[in-house]
Amino acid sequence: SKGGYDHFMLKEIYEQPRAIKETLLRRLDDNGRIVLDDINLTKEDLDKISKIYIVACGTAYHAGLVGRYAIERFAKIPVEPDVASEFRYREPFIDENTLLIAVSQSGETADTLAAIREAKSKGARILSITNVVGSSVARESDDVFYTWAGPEIAVASTKAYTTQLVALYMVALHMANIKKSISEDYYFEIIEKMKALPDKVEEIFKKSDEIKKIAEIIKDKNSVFYIGRGLDYQTSMEGALKLKEISYIHTEAFAAGELKHGTIALIEKETPVIAVASQDYLYEKMVSNIQEVKARGAYAIAIVKEGLDESLNHADETIYIPEVDNILAPVLTVVPTQLLAYYTSVIKGNDVDKPRNLAKSVTVE
Ligand code: F6R
Repeated sequence: SKGGYDHFMLKEIYEQPRAIKETLLRRLDDNGRIVLDDINLTKEDLDKISKIYIVACGTAYHAGLVGRYAIERFAKIPVEPDVASEFRYREPFIDENTLLIAVSQSGETADTLAAIREAKSKGARILSITNVVGSSVARESDDVFYTWAGPEIAVASTKAYTTQLVALYMVALHMANIKKSISEDYYFEIIEKMKALPDKVEEIFKKSDEIKKIAEIIKDKNSVFYIGRGLDYQTSMEGALKLKEISYIHTEAFAAGELKHGTIALIEKETPVIAVASQDYLYEKMVSNIQEVKARGAYAIAIVKEGLDESLNHADETIYIPEVDNILAPVLTVVPTQLLAYYTSVIKGNDVDKPRNLAKSVTVE
């Protein structure tokens, strides 16, 4: 049931604080350390791993892009994320020192399963992150992390995504703890900061009215662009996918630094450009990119982390998100993009939970 909400998607967006909490807290022991029952990686196993692929489709792939940052930062192992339908056919280099991490809400996505089988046949170890207990992906993996998002009914993925992010942070921290590749202090600092995420997501829900106003502005546009740098580029990709799949507006995400290499030619008067800016060390660069698109007539909408210098930001509209560590920011920055997609779809009278041409679980190629 929709539990009093108009759509499953909105219900699932609002379930995120609880889903994140469950995924995280149920895996912390009395000392606050991460315990992963279905992952049996030893120090010996990890020392042997020279390369990690993260393979997934759609939204789960976007989670994998964030996972790369977390694993490289914490566990210090090179990571290459790839789209499953590409990975399976490109003859990637795989050997016994390869770990493949598959991310799949349903655990039944055909291309993701095929990628697992391909990697397994070449000797790779398989670790999966999935929301469905006993799913094909889970059964065919050596190690499993179950996101405790609960059933996701809306086709557009929301709570599965944010719990996949939490899962990837936890897997990365777990590996780091085994390898001793980060200090104890840093390990516990990140866990503490993760515990604060559910309340911060809750804070963002208070911005719904502001977000509805922006939905009114973008609803009749032909194109909407998302721009970002670093982890904000990953959110841009996810935000653009969410918006296009349920509003049917053409959207694209660009790495903000790529604008002047071609894409800025697309900016016309009143083209909405949504700029995600949560990364302290990239903020000034993002501010310049906002200026660049505004100078070409764009209607700039910024998603900005509180605490960053407001006086620098000259966007037409700004949605603030709570202060958060750079590495964890994707859990928060995505929430306004989910709500914006949702309200735009509602205003347009679309079938929000069952957008045209799409299936919840893609079990064919
Ligand atoms: C988008 C969306 C899809 C899925 C993709 C993978 O909102 O839901 O892009 O993320 O089809 O599905 P799973 O995670 O079930 O493998």
